[in-house]
Amino acid sequence: MQESKHKTVYVAMSADLIHPGHLNIINEAGKHGKVIVGVLTDEAIASYKRLPYMDYEQRKTIVEAIKGVSKVIPQTCLDYVPNLKMLKPDFVVHGDDWKTGIQKETRQRVIDTLKEWGGALIEPAYTKNISSTKLNQALREVGVTPESRLKRLDRMIKAKPLLRVIEAHNGLSGMIAEESHIIRDNIKIEFDAIWLSSLTASVSVGKPDTGYVDTTSRLYALNHILEVTTKPIIYDADSGGHIEHFTYLVKTLERHGVSAVIIEDKVGLKRNSLFAEDNLQLQDNIENFCKKITAGKKVQLIGEFKIIARIESLILGKSTNDALDRAKAYTEAGADGIMIHSKSNEPDEIFEFCKKFRKFDKNTPVIVVPTTYSQVHENTFESMGINVVIYANHLLRSCFTAMQKTAHGILENGRALEVEQWCMPVKDLINLV
Ligand code: SPV
Ligand code: MG
Repeated sequence: MQESKHKTVYVAMSADLIHPGHLNIINEAGKHGKVIVGVLTDEAIASYKRLPYMDYEQRKTIVEAIKGVSKVIPQTCLDYVPNLKMLKPDFVVHGDDWKTGIQKETRQRVIDTLKEWGGALIEPAYTKNISSTKLNQALREVGVTPESRLKRLDRMIKAKPLLRVIEAHNGLSGMIAEESHIIRDNIKIEFDAIWLSSLTASVSVGKPDTGYVDTTSRLYALNHILEVTTKPIIYDADSGGHIEHFTYLVKTLERHGVSAVIIEDKVGLKRNSLFAEDNLQLQDNIENFCKKITAGKKVQLIGEFKIIARIESLILGKSTNDALDRAKAYTEAGADGIMIHSKSNEPDEIFEFCKKFRKFDKNTPVIVVPTTYSQVHENTFESMGINVVIYANHLLRSCFTAMQKTAHGILENGRALEVEQWCMPVKDLINLV
């Protein structure tokens, strides 16, 4: 026991939802020496699963207060090795649940690294019936507060190289956006946030994307989506309308827990950017649009709420330089991000903009909507310094073709038997909610 006083023990944890399992590990670790806890940073956690509920500083404060913890340091990646090499601890303590599954390789690297200085891994029995995963599920059932949902987008942009966002236009598509995921190389891949597209909001109620569907109707759909999701929401507000209306909208969106609003620098009758005739579109002048951005920034109450300026220069056949001038002016006016839009089938003009923009602005988030250049992979966007990619209309487009196929199938066969094969069983539909 005397000897253990001089020994050091390293424990790593996310420490988002502290439970008796964590205390058991720290307690066990304390029996072998001075306990140093590596709390995983938001970046480290976001590299393999959902962002934690509490940020790093909050989690660190909690762990520091736990009896038996001598020191807390950040662990900036999933891999223990950098911290182990720095600390050269005598022991690492971890629950025995990581012998199989997602953390198996991390464990092996810990064992191999400790060997270099004769350290050892101690693995107390995993505390049964309680786990962060179960607590997380329970929390998701309880839901989120508007404020914590709102702030999450800002944290995600800081913690992840590229955010993946998908459109939702009603409660059902919201559920798909919330729940859809795949597991690849033990990492959960899912959408980070939800885009409330004006196009899909309009078309899903059988109207054109001309601003005819008013804010009240849009908020109705937003509420359906909020009820079945926890992910951050990015709201497409067209041009934002009159400055006096836009400032109201900012407050309304904040109150609902929406994280960001995107406004485009167009004036006159709204037309969708992708197929409209160039000569029917008018771009706002820089001064007016900057006024709108600044007015919105002035009225927002929560610092993390984002007003993102969408530049339509490329859509309207103007030069990259025009887009760059605008990007500079809009960020100076307070815009928290730039969405650069294009209807070209190739990403070249978007990439040219990004390269030049990043030369004078390293930090402002850049958002793209690759509807017409969907061949570009997320990895390429990431390498171009793009922060957010929005799949702006795909859930609505795919459900339309699926519904049409079923309708035609029934007409052709005079019965529904033939289409059953691709229809969800009614029992599953009933159990869905
Ligand atoms: C939307 O999804 O409504 C957009 C993107 O504004 S686009 O349709 O490409 O203009
Ligand atoms: Mg739109």
